[in-house]
Amino acid sequence: MRIIFLGDIVGEPGRDAVKTALPMLKERYAPDFIVVNGENAAGGHGITPRLVYEILRCKVDVITLGDHTWDQREILPFFEQEPRLIRPFNFPTTSPGLGWVVVSGNGKKFGVINAMGRTFMPVPVDNPVLGLPPILEQVKRETNCILVDFHAETTSEKIAFGHAVDGQVSVVVGTHTHVQTADDKILPGGTAYITDAGFCGGHDSVIGRDKEPILERYKTLMPVRMTVSAKQPQVDGIFAEIDEETGKALKIERIQQAVELPSNGKEK
Ligand SMILES: [Fe+2]
Ligand SMILES: [Fe+2]
Repeated sequence: MRIIFLGDIVGEPGRDAVKTALPMLKERYAPDFIVVNGENAAGGHGITPRLVYEILRCKVDVITLGDHTWDQREILPFFEQEPRLIRPFNFPTTSPGLGWVVVSGNGKKFGVINAMGRTFMPVPVDNPVLGLPPILEQVKRETNCILVDFHAETTSEKIAFGHAVDGQVSVVVGTHTHVQTADDKILPGGTAYITDAGFCGGHDSVIGRDKEPILERYKTLMPVRMTVSAKQPQVDGIFAEIDEETGKALKIERIQQAVELPSNGKEK
């Protein structure tokens, strides 16, 4: 099984970059399934139902989220009607939506799980390692091919999570820090791993936000309005190949695809 995962989509430039890059990436990798993290899709803050459909229309199979899940209020009831939108499973059990989904296509089934870390994250969540087994049990009734988007801040927590679940899932891909790491590998138990996939959006920026207001804040310590960058649009992520029988990873490869957009280099 061949899969593509793309890191956090930041604002309209990120969405446009994904729309532009996906046809190229599909041709290059011929993926069976495509997963993206959409937690910053709405101007950097969460996602709306309209944007969920805009992204799914690009033949994306699953959208994962993170600490920005609830930023747009209209998304709360929407989880009921769109199971392909998932949020971290270790949110309180009272939260709308689910933290995992199994999708199918081309006679194949693929499980996607979203989890969130606890170190230096804005909201306290349940232990992601202890909470995973009951979810894995349900997903493995349908497929051995499983990707976990582990949304977390620190490299150490992400690496520890990867080792904790090594051999139990096919791929662990980190998100949230928006900077792609160069540590893509297959762990000893057969799980493909990368600490962070990176992000989709304007890369001449501070992790997707325009530099100028952020530099102003650093200098003056005054609050500023942060805007999303459209400069140097680029799509970051990974391609992975999975043995369909065993669920073990065969390959992981980093993706950094620059794209040309009409808005390239302009202020957004
Ligand atoms: Fe993010
Ligand atoms: Fe995040």
